[in-house]
Amino acid sequence: MSLKPLVIDGLVAKVPIIQGGMGIGVSLANLAGAVSREGGIGILSTAQIGYQEESFEKSPLRANMIAIQKQFEKAKEIACGGLIGFNIMAATFHYDRYVKRCVEVGADVIISGAGLPINLPELVEGSQTKIAPIVSSNKGARVLLSTWKKRYNKTADFVVIEGPKAGGHLGFKAEVIEQSIEQMDEEIIKIVETVNSFGADFNKKIPVIFAGGVFDREDIDHYLSLGCSGVQMATRFVVTEECDAPESFKEAYIKAEKEDITIIKSPVGMPGRAIKNRFSERIKHEQIPIEKCRNCLSYKHCDRETIPYCITETLLNAVTKEPEDALVFAGSNAYRIKEKTTVKTIFKELTTA
Ligand SMILES: Cc1cc2nc3c(=O)[nH]c(=O)nc-3n(C[C@H](O)[C@H](O)[C@H](O)COP(=O)(O)O)c2cc1C
Repeated sequence: MSLKPLVIDGLVAKVPIIQGGMGIGVSLANLAGAVSREGGIGILSTAQIGYQEESFEKSPLRANMIAIQKQFEKAKEIACGGLIGFNIMAATFHYDRYVKRCVEVGADVIISGAGLPINLPELVEGSQTKIAPIVSSNKGARVLLSTWKKRYNKTADFVVIEGPKAGGHLGFKAEVIEQSIEQMDEEIIKIVETVNSFGADFNKKIPVIFAGGVFDREDIDHYLSLGCSGVQMATRFVVTEECDAPESFKEAYIKAEKEDITIIKSPVGMPGRAIKNRFSERIKHEQIPIEKCRNCLSYKHCDRETIPYCITETLLNAVTKEPEDALVFAGSNAYRIKEKTTVKTIFKELTTA
């Protein structure tokens, strides 16, 4: 059976696949544009999106504001009329300015996780940009949607559920990740119910998208059967011609075996999934001094005095230096990728049932 288009409050993606935002420097214009051109939704990560801009070291915020527009325009050009959005972490320092800038350049959607994006509705007020929180539990979904309803009389345009098999920061305590994998299907069903009840209050259909470990068509069909309207996939798109990460980053994925996919402690206060390497071993017993603070996270999410290492520094190193000595985020299925392909080939595989 062919996959049904994803309809988000009037916006239509021909294929119900959103490419997950990947910072730093992994999902920029080339990848997002390619995914969108195939009918999915391409997502740019705003995490230090301007790291290649000349002004970055002097003024990261300014460089990021410039790059938001440049990357968006380039992605739109590649997308030939397809949908392009942004992933903005709620823990970002100056979160409000990032959201407003993405709205200003014309983002089709904004997806926000890594913390609760409590004030997102007021930041997009009056625009055409559709918004989605990322949640990992029914409780999280309920708290956020109730808050948006009470405070703004608004609800989400869609909701992304990120499960425990995802790459990058995870919304689960390290000790319960394994157990949560077993219980996720039940949780998804509950979240879909919760979201539908908020949708009914606002007389609108709120699509639910599942992310985390989605790899093949069987996975997609499984999550659709649980009531989701689409999936978000990130890891699967890393080792493609179009992905914006350097070859060395893609090589780290190809070389990884199952036992190399590990859980690390992030200074953000959440666990993360990454590829085991010299860096992931080093942070187990060493505090790495911060050479330079680029103010990536709000003070609530980063205590500059006590953090074990700088998240921006290490994620930047993963795309500018030797990935072996940096944090290489990856989903639980990264080890299944053994060769480079193209976004077109992946879409062909996933859309042919
Ligand atoms: C390399 C990498 C970087 C990521 N960076 C971000 C990010 O900056 N913000 C975010 O919300 N999620 C981030 N994620 C999570 C993805 O957007 C996505 O939801 C998740 O990885 C889905 O699981 P999958 O990779 O198994 O498909 C990242 C994931 C990877 C693999």
